Amino acid sequence: MLLVFLISVLLISLVTYRLLGFAKRLESTSEALDVNEILRNVVGFIQKEAEDQNVSIEFNLHENLEHIISDHGQLEQVFLNIINNALAAVEDEGRIEIRTWEESGYMVAVSIADNGFGMSTQTMNHIFEPFFTTKKQFGTGLGLSITFGIVKKLGGEIKVESQVDVGSRFIIFYQSDKVLSVRRTLHEPVEDIACRR
Ligand SMILES: Nc1ncnc2c1ncn2[C@@H]1O[C@H](COP(=O)(O)OP(=O)(O)OP(=O)(O)O)[C@@H](O)[C@H]1O
Ligand SMILES: [Mg+2]
Repeated sequence: MLLVFLISVLLISLVTYRLLGFAKRLESTSEALDVNEILRNVVGFIQKEAEDQNVSIEFNLHENLEHIISDHGQLEQVFLNIINNALAAVEDEGRIEIRTWEESGYMVAVSIADNGFGMSTQTMNHIFEPFFTTKKQFGTGLGLSITFGIVKKLGGEIKVESQVDVGSRFIIFYQSDKVLSVRRTLHEPVEDIACRR
């Protein structure tokens, strides 16, 4: 009984901590960012945990990727949430692959794929809802709802593909710096550009 109570208190503290952190990050900054570099940094944070689990993280990054105009900390948060979920979904000796590429010359795309236990259609329908988790007392269910909010706010798109017992793939698309700067010279407001996709 006491244990259940302590777990509930811990969970509430964790939720509050993450919500406060999220609120603080709502004030975003805009700068030209190298997505490859951010991905490498984020993997650096969790490399040790991955090694302990015998999980390999492979990079397949497009060289000289166009920069994107975004918020450094929020982008880190997005990738960290998705990679952490991938790490939780794979068995010992699992595999996570991180790819970047350019699409149609003006979009920067990132995919994070794992060969973990995957998701049913039923689960996939709810993953972006706040507090939806299949991790019982170990998850807050906030990771992907926060991720979704940030990606949208920064003018991006997020897509998910998954198959039970095969794995999952999260793909994020952002407009590159190039298209934003061209439109800026045409004096179009950046907010409009971000929304019109
Ligand atoms: N790569 C993945 N493979 C399988 N299921 C996933 C994957 N990513 C997300 N999910 C499913 O989506 C649910 C919601 O994820 P989300 O990150 O929002 O919360 P969580 O991971 O459960 O909790 P927290 O992020 O607080 O640790 C997970 O509980 C899991 O069922
Ligand atoms: Mg999560």
